[in-house]
Amino acid sequence: MQHNKVITQIKESGHLPKIPKAFGEILDMLLDPYEYDLDECIDKFIKYPQLEKIMIHSLDYNSNLNRKFLTIRDAITYLGARNAKIVAISYITNLLVPIEKGRAKVFNNKKYWKHCLGTSIAAYKIAEKSNLSDKDKMFIYGLVHDIGVTVLDICLPDEMDQIHQLQKKGVHQIAAEKLVLQGITHAEIGSWLCFEWNLPDEMQTIIANHHTPLLATRHKTDVMIIHLADSISTTYYESLLGCESTFIYSKKIMESLGIDEDFMKEIIHTLPQEIERLYKIVV
Ligand SMILES: [Fe+2]
Ligand SMILES: [Fe+2]
Repeated sequence: MQHNKVITQIKESGHLPKIPKAFGEILDMLLDPYEYDLDECIDKFIKYPQLEKIMIHSLDYNSNLNRKFLTIRDAITYLGARNAKIVAISYITNLLVPIEKGRAKVFNNKKYWKHCLGTSIAAYKIAEKSNLSDKDKMFIYGLVHDIGVTVLDICLPDEMDQIHQLQKKGVHQIAAEKLVLQGITHAEIGSWLCFEWNLPDEMQTIIANHHTPLLATRHKTDVMIIHLADSISTTYYESLLGCESTFIYSKKIMESLGIDEDFMKEIIHTLPQEIERLYKIVV
């Protein structure tokens, strides 16, 4: 993948955001719902003073409390491990998907961001209903599942616009990408990025397989949840673009997750207003 022509173009564009290597390690720790060790996590932050400073600033800004935190230990102890974890992950996720840096002219990254929020909401609900995964984690994966699209928007805006034009004509996203990007897709670009930025292995597997869930050999349940959530949210996104839906819901995956048609319809029905509500809070 390193020597792929499109990957080389992305690297040489000079626009790829730089992520400190420590982010991957910290994210890995925060995403684990069972093994999360507060002291170990604080130690990681302390090892990287710059990162600690950014996090304290972010916790101050996001927590809306009438007090300032002086150290990361102080902040995490005050907020509680769970709240601090959610704030920390959201902050890191924002760094990973800086939509304001997008440069494409026709592709509308704000509409696409709504698709990512929709995927997060649907993934959260499926995880909650099926009880097969951690719902907060699924929410985060929903936000980053299409990180390859964000990178294309930032680094190769002309190609992103060509893909978008094809999609508006009714071409499936994956087919359009393969045509414009000489055979590769945003899932492969996202997967390459996870290696490049040292992001958690589980995140890489989900990003790489979210359009090909049956090919996943690890983290299969999480991949299926994101795939199903992505399908639901793509239907909404395509309606925002004014084009016919190109997505098919996989009955096999619904059965594996124990999700029935009625529950799917319920998510589809409430998704638009929930996306709008969340969009106003996070943008
Ligand atoms: Fe995708
Ligand atoms: Fe998607």
